[in-house]
Amino acid sequence: MNYWTAAPDIVDAFVQPGGHEGTSIPLELTLRTLTAVSPERPLRVVDLGGGDAALAVRLAMAGHEVVVQDIDPQMIALGEQRLARGPSAIRDRVRLICADGATMAADQAEVADLVCCHSVLMYEDDPAPLARTAVALCKTGGLVSIVAINPAAAAMRSGLAQRWAEARIALETGSDAHGPYAASRNHPRETVEGLLSEAGAGIVEWSGIGIFTDHHAGPILADDPEDVLRAEWLAGRLDPYRQVARCYHLIARKL
Ligand SMILES: C[S@@+](CC[C@H](N)C(=O)[O-])C[C@H]1O[C@@H](n2cnc3c(N)ncnc32)[C@H](O)[C@@H]1O
Repeated sequence: MNYWTAAPDIVDAFVQPGGHEGTSIPLELTLRTLTAVSPERPLRVVDLGGGDAALAVRLAMAGHEVVVQDIDPQMIALGEQRLARGPSAIRDRVRLICADGATMAADQAEVADLVCCHSVLMYEDDPAPLARTAVALCKTGGLVSIVAINPAAAAMRSGLAQRWAEARIALETGSDAHGPYAASRNHPRETVEGLLSEAGAGIVEWSGIGIFTDHHAGPILADDPEDVLRAEWLAGRLDPYRQVARCYHLIARKL
């Protein structure tokens, strides 16, 4: 079962009005981590479930070549629109392919220095095929980057936003599936670490994303926006803060 393709209005919910072009705290933190762990040279990147190419465009701006592989033709169309609005130098470095990342063609194996799979595993009941694809697409010595919702912190978003009934149910059931969000399956970090390791990748590091800011629906007030990113970055690398982050960001290396 794929919860993304099963939810008819999910693309509209994902693309907030006026928000398609902007960046976000999770995107900025993710990019900082990728910059910190990646070698300083142009990389071949595959972004599995890369959707509207927001990450791909930022990686292409940094000089990398990116293939976005996404199951949803609507998301690929949004990616094409984003590329069409940008400079041709960026367009030339990004390729969009509509395909299910859980069923990979064998001839695509070992093509990438970096494989990203961000906010995608939660749409699969079984995350194993996507995790296997991510590792298979990676060259030996290359990196796999997974961002996924942290089920251990299921009540944090609703609790901090004062949606108390939701917080209570999340604590009672261990799931936030009853909230105003599309259905998903949030797989624990330890499960995904196990899958990556079975597929032949060793964990390099993990951090938390969205500790102080995830529950804010509106703009975040700050004298200097860099303070927000720096606070999130530092807390994301420290226990106990990272344990209650909305998402975990796992970096693994193909052995
Ligand atoms: C929440 S969006 C995340 C998009 C992007 N990775 C990001 O971090 O903003 C989830 C994306 O995963 C894609 N997706 C879900 N299941 C997939 C699968 N099995 N193979 C490829 N893409 C998938 C969806 O089409 C959607 O574009």
